[in-house]
Amino acid sequence: MSNLVEVKNLCVDYITFDGPIRAVTDVNFNIKKGEILGLAGESGCGKSTIAFSLMRLHRPPALISEGKIEFEGKNVLEMSDSELRKYRWQGASMVFQSAMNCLNPVKTIEYQFWDVFDAHDMVSNREESIKKAKELLRIVDIPEDRLFDYPHQFSGGMRQRVVIAMALALKPKLLIMDEPTTALDVVVQREILQKVYQLKEQFGFSILFITHDLSLMVEFCDRIGIMYSGQLVELAPAKEILQSPYHPYSDGLGNSFPTLIGDLQEMRGIPGTPLDLSKVPPGCRFAPRCHLAKETCHIKPPHIHQQNECRLVACHYPINTSDNRDQLPIKLTQVAEV
Ligand SMILES: Nc1ncnc2c1ncn2[C@@H]1O[C@H](COP(=O)(O)OP(=O)(O)O)[C@@H](O)[C@H]1O
Ligand SMILES: [Mg+2]
Repeated sequence: MSNLVEVKNLCVDYITFDGPIRAVTDVNFNIKKGEILGLAGESGCGKSTIAFSLMRLHRPPALISEGKIEFEGKNVLEMSDSELRKYRWQGASMVFQSAMNCLNPVKTIEYQFWDVFDAHDMVSNREESIKKAKELLRIVDIPEDRLFDYPHQFSGGMRQRVVIAMALALKPKLLIMDEPTTALDVVVQREILQKVYQLKEQFGFSILFITHDLSLMVEFCDRIGIMYSGQLVELAPAKEILQSPYHPYSDGLGNSFPTLIGDLQEMRGIPGTPLDLSKVPPGCRFAPRCHLAKETCHIKPPHIHQQNECRLVACHYPINTSDNRDQLPIKLTQVAEV
């Protein structure tokens, strides 16, 4: 699979009155064609900042201070206004956490589809827009006669499906979903993700799926990147992250929710609180909370490196690797087969 997106050395700062705060530090990853890549990590670790940067939707005080975001080989950060217009919606589109904030409450769904189609010259008249919008509603399992309703007449799950249909309106190659189902109950959450997966198989787009819910992600993603304090600390095939995490933080995240099969295990969680980005320590950012940290960890920052063929990790003493599996017998998390 070739790469659709390549993020290279991305650094994003928020310019505050107390000086710049680096919310994303030197992040590298790629998204392959047709792949679902997940980004997980605690609140405030920089996931949304990356999503907004990919869409070039970041606004002051956010500033991309270093790095490149390449989409099909073209740097998104250097696109002209007209290129950017085409890139948004047709190249990449985004589903935000709260559908209610994306839909205009005083306009019908029909009008909002028309607005998108018209702005991108995708239809020649209103009838054509209605026809296309009905098709899109159908693919997300919403009866087409609901097209003329207002957002408040839909349930939360339906609204989120409308937003997904809208995001797919211009057949994007990349769908970015930033906590798309966090506000919904688990049953609706699952239904929506199954639908998105089906659509991905049907249309072949790639997905960047962002959530703090690692258990949801493991079912849905091909690979998962784990973020901590603005840095990518591990990147691996989805199930490997849970079965044999290399980074102690990934291990902690995996142990923060109960398994569905096997013996009851005590959940360990992660002690401490996320780092204050205005006071970044000299060594590894996770070291103050890491139960395996040694002296080096507090002095020297680890760089993300290829630990094996398909896995990257930023840790001086990665766990569960062949180098030190014996010395550090971390209990492997049992993964529910779904
Ligand atoms: N407008 C802003 N001004 C200053 N700091 C911000 C702003 N938006 C986000 N941040 C900071 O950037 C960091 C990353 O935020 P965000 O990308 O929203 O994280 P996540 O999506 O992982 O919860 C956080 O520490 C947050 O406080
Ligand atoms: Mg966020």
